[in-house]
Amino acid sequence: MQDQDLTPDTDDHSPKSRHSPKSMLLIAGAAIVAIAASATMYFYFKTSDKMQANAGDPQQVAAGKIVYQGSCASCHGKALEGQPAWRTRKADGKLPAPPQDKTGHSWHHPDEQLFLITRNGVKPPLAPEGYLSDMPAFDDKLSDRQIWDVIAFIKASWPADIRARQKRVNDANRQ
Ligand code: HEC
Repeated sequence: MQDQDLTPDTDDHSPKSRHSPKSMLLIAGAAIVAIAASATMYFYFKTSDKMQANAGDPQQVAAGKIVYQGSCASCHGKALEGQPAWRTRKADGKLPAPPQDKTGHSWHHPDEQLFLITRNGVKPPLAPEGYLSDMPAFDDKLSDRQIWDVIAFIKASWPADIRARQKRVNDANRQ
């Protein structure tokens, strides 16, 4: 017997009624897909909004390693070892690039300062006005996300005790 509920709409070429169990299933399926998609979007934007350097996130660390090798290794060293005699100013009065591993002093800084140094270079308020430095500003070369990634990579190179000490610096800075 024909279903009485067939849509009169001529551009519905479906032989099935809108209310057949099969189409209800399709509608329910579409609704589930829509909810899942918006949940995914929500979490994506939520986590990407919260820019931070998480040394415990292998994906972020891997992304940061690529940034480091491409943009930082030429000065800070392939193995984060810095330039020779990095504590002694050169003839031009500028400092060589310090290590980024535990032998340097990046870990004395909270994450936000490492971010600002990388994005803006060594500029006030983190250095005196007119301070001369070879550390480039990366604001026009790297996205904020890439800068957080490279900081995550640098942090991941530090042993647990150094990471714990830098975490205390971070916590104090955020209070
Ligand atoms: C052209 C060479 C050069 C490149 C490339 C470079 N740096 Fe530097 N960086 C320096 C120098 C030199 C200093 C020391 C700054 C000073 O005190 O004058 C420095 C300092 C820093 C500091 C502060 C360290 C501290 O102990 O206070 C951070 C953080 C830093 N660089 C991160 C990076 C990151 C991340 C990259 C890659 C995205 C990078 N640098 C690329 C030369 C470089």
